[in-house]
Amino acid sequence: MRKGNLNISYRIYANAGELEKSDADLMLAAENSLKNAYAVYSGFRVGAALLLENGDIVLGNNQENIAFPSSLCAERVALYYCKANYPDVKVVKIAITAKASSVKLIEPVSPCGACRQVMSEYERIQKSNIEMILKGEEGEVFIFDTVTELLPLAFETQAL
Ligand code: THU
Repeated sequence: MRKGNLNISYRIYANAGELEKSDADLMLAAENSLKNAYAVYSGFRVGAALLLENGDIVLGNNQENIAFPSSLCAERVALYYCKANYPDVKVVKIAITAKASSVKLIEPVSPCGACRQVMSEYERIQKSNIEMILKGEEGEVFIFDTVTELLPLAFETQAL
């Protein structure tokens, strides 16, 4: 028997004011995008902004439905829109933020497992990292160089 060890590494910024301007701008785009979330059931709005290698920014926000499982997270709305419309353009970064109707979010919001899985596959097929910038309504900002830090040992197989 051997013991494995997983180490998660990321950068922590005290607030959005500490970010490089391009990252702060991308986060601002994500913040603006969450205004268009359709989150009438949860009251939890999420905004995502993708920076593409051609400089374009693609936005997404969570879209809920009265048939709850039909809802989709902000990250996948943005990523699927991106792959549908820019199939050959690499995604360089994703900024994610959220705003809740019930409490002030003072910690970064981290993508759900399903969104991590989707990001992980897009990283694999584009053969380059997608940097992830996470923020709540205020407070610290976390930056991960790759989704792999948040989804180590992601499902992947040659069999499919
Ligand atoms: N949500 C996202 O948009 N992204 C995530 O990574 C986690 C959760 C949405 C789904 C649902 O509309 C609401 O937040 C509450 O879970």
